[in-house]
Parts: sequence; C-alpha cells; structure tokens
Amino acid sequence: MPHIKSEPFDTSKADQLILVDFRAISKFGNETWLVSKDGKSIFVDIIKRANEYLVKPNKITKGSDISFVKTILQYFIDELNLKVIHSNINVKPNRPKVAHFAHKSIEDFYRFKSKFRTIKLEVGFGSARHLLYRAKEEPDTLFIGIEIHTPSINQLLKQINLQNLDNIWVVNYDARLLLEMLPSNILDTIYVHFPVPWDKKPHRRVISNFFVDEALRALKVNGFLELRSDSDNYYKYALEVFSNQKVSKFSVDKNIDIEIISKYEQRWRDMGKDIYTLKLSSLKESPKRDIDIDFNFGTVAIKELPNEEKFIGDDYFVHIAKEFKMDRGFVAECSFGSFNIPEKKLLVVDRGRCYYMPSNPVKSLVNLKAHKKIIEVLNG
Ligand SMILES: C[S@@+](CC[C@H](N)C(=O)[O-])C[C@H]1O[C@@H](n2cnc3c(N)ncnc32)[C@H](O)[C@@H]1O
Repeated sequence: MPHIKSEPFDTSKADQLILVDFRAISKFGNETWLVSKDGKSIFVDIIKRANEYLVKPNKITKGSDISFVKTILQYFIDELNLKVIHSNINVKPNRPKVAHFAHKSIEDFYRFKSKFRTIKLEVGFGSARHLLYRAKEEPDTLFIGIEIHTPSINQLLKQINLQNLDNIWVVNYDARLLLEMLPSNILDTIYVHFPVPWDKKPHRRVISNFFVDEALRALKVNGFLELRSDSDNYYKYALEVFSNQKVSKFSVDKNIDIEIISKYEQRWRDMGKDIYTLKLSSLKESPKRDIDIDFNFGTVAIKELPNEEKFIGDDYFVHIAKEFKMDRGFVAECSFGSFNIPEKKLLVVDRGRCYYMPSNPVKSLVNLKAHKKIIEVLNG
C-alpha cells in the first residue's frame, strides 16, 4: 500500500486542509483523518513514532483505488510541506488481483439473475474436481462454487481459464450466508461433499436447521441437497436436522459409487471408511423472498465509547476496538458478523450521525444481528 514516512510535523494543520473532513485522535496520540476528493473518501492514519511519522491509508480502507491514495498522499506532502524520509508513492501500482468474469462477490447475489435455466451449487468445493467434472458434463447448467479457502478459489479460476469454461461462478464466502441471498425456487441441486465435521464446535457446521430451511427455500420442487460424509457423527447429526423439517423426503445410501470422487474421498475409501450419501428433496414451492436489510443507525446519543466492547452470540460476534476521538464524536475500529468471514469496518460517529466506512456490510442476517447489537452499544 502507498505510504510515506516523514519527519514529525504539526498534525493540527490538517484542520485547515480543504480535503480533510475531520481529524480524530486515539488515546495513544495517533490520528486518523477522513479525506474526500471528487466524491471518494478514505481514512488516512498518522502513526507517530519518535523520529518519524508514518502516513498511510487505514487498513480497513485498503480496498481503495491505489492511484487515489497516491494522489491524497502527494497532496499532504505538498500542502503540509512534509519532509519525506521514505515514500513508495512513485512506484507502479501493484498488479491487480485476477479479474475474472467467473469471480463473483457476495454482493453480486443481491439481485441474482442468470440466463441459465438449470443452476447447481457446490458448497466447499476444495480441489474442485467434482465441480469441474460436472460443469464439463453439463455445459447448459450454471455451477456456483462457494469456498472460504482462497487458494482453492484461485486454483479453480485458473482451471476455468485453462479449460475455457463459461458456466461456473466462483464465490469466496461463507456458504452458510449465501443461500439467504438467493431467490426462492431457483436451484436444482446443492452439493455439500465432505464438509468439515467440526465435532468439537458443532455450531460451525455448514449443515444446520437454518441452512436446511434456506436450502429447501432456494431449491426448486424436486431439487435436492446432496450431502456426502465419511463422518458417522456428521451423518447422524444431518439425519436429525433433515428430520426436523415438517414436510420432508430424504434418502440414505452407504458406500455407493458416484461418477467422480475427490482425492479426499479416495483417501477415506483407501482406509476402508464408510461413506454416507444423504439426499434431501424439496417437495413444495416456496414463497418469494426479498431481502430488505438496512444498515442505517438513526441518530445516536453517544459521544465517546466507554470501553472496548466484545460480544459473542451463537452465530455472530461484535468487537468494537480502538477509538479515535474528535470533538464532534469518534471513529472506532469494529469487526463483527460471522466467525468465518467477519466484517471489518470503521464506525464513524460524527455529531450524532453514525455510519460505516468505507462501505456498509454485506446484507446478511448475521450482519444485521451484529448491527443491531452495535446500535444497542451506541445507545448505552
Ligand atoms: C474436507 S474439505 C472437502 C472438499 C471437497 N468437497 C471434497 O469433497 O474433496 C471441506 C471444504 O469445505 C470448505 N469450507 C468449510 N467451511 C465452509 C463454509 N462455511 N463455506 C464454504 N466453504 C467451507 C473448506 O475450505 C474445505 O475446502
């Protein structure tokens, strides 16, 4: 990330700079400034060390456009007459991450549309052997693969390029939060092959009552969820969850052959382990689902955070940490939401108006729960 190291300077001069919206100071004396130009904003941190000040974008705004960050840093050098000790703002921008038509963000699912009539989802595809095989076999089906493990995502994107496939979407996110964003009755199949058993932390399992409710809602009538597992515990647990459905149809097979197996499965087979295949089918049309999640705060009375705040719920947490004060309110570093893919945001409270920077969280139900908790904290 672009940054500058300069000799210490008078940071109060920032109050006179037209691009600096406000300046907030932490209890250690470090500062963060909200800087805006041409409708874009970033937070810039000033880390004060004995002999030098480090000026850099706040890590939470690190997704910002690099040339914009450089323009802002150059502006500080010019306007504050910084005596630069070291800077990397003349180096070429980093190579962009693989940009790929198949690579989707979770926000792309807010208004999901697809020209494909048959849509299948694979949760935790790992090496993607199964996903790639199916996508090649069924070119008229859209396959959505979701994974939390980034190297698996990159490996699949590479294969999609190499094999010239145009019927795969890849999402780097927690599968437990994707289904709720999909419209009702659109999926033909959901594959969950060899999910992590999480014997000691069952609340982390992909399969849960909530997941299965959402799966049946998103599946078409006669569409099915296929779970495969080598874990006796997981198999029994899944049977129990499937049985919780009021109206349900499911089947169990043991040690059946399927067309393609992953290296992972092969290893278990070689060890002589039993492999269970459970299929849960959707039997009825589900009502339409519109997500209307709003991250507004209304007005908040709080001027200062009394303490660092930590809260852990069943499926979400909230952690409000380092606070930068200013006379109009404060800026706090905040992480919250799901355990696997938490949100990291700056929480700005400016004259009673409160908002997230650099953007609102993903519209998921756990983020909404966390947001409500944050409002509770802000209102004491
Ligand atoms: C044991 S591996 C199985 C991989 C593959 N399905 C197979 O059969 O070889 C489980 C995979 O699920 C992924 N995973 C675990 N929890 C997940 C979640 N909540 N959302 C998406 N992927 C998840 C892991 O990163 C891992 O790649």
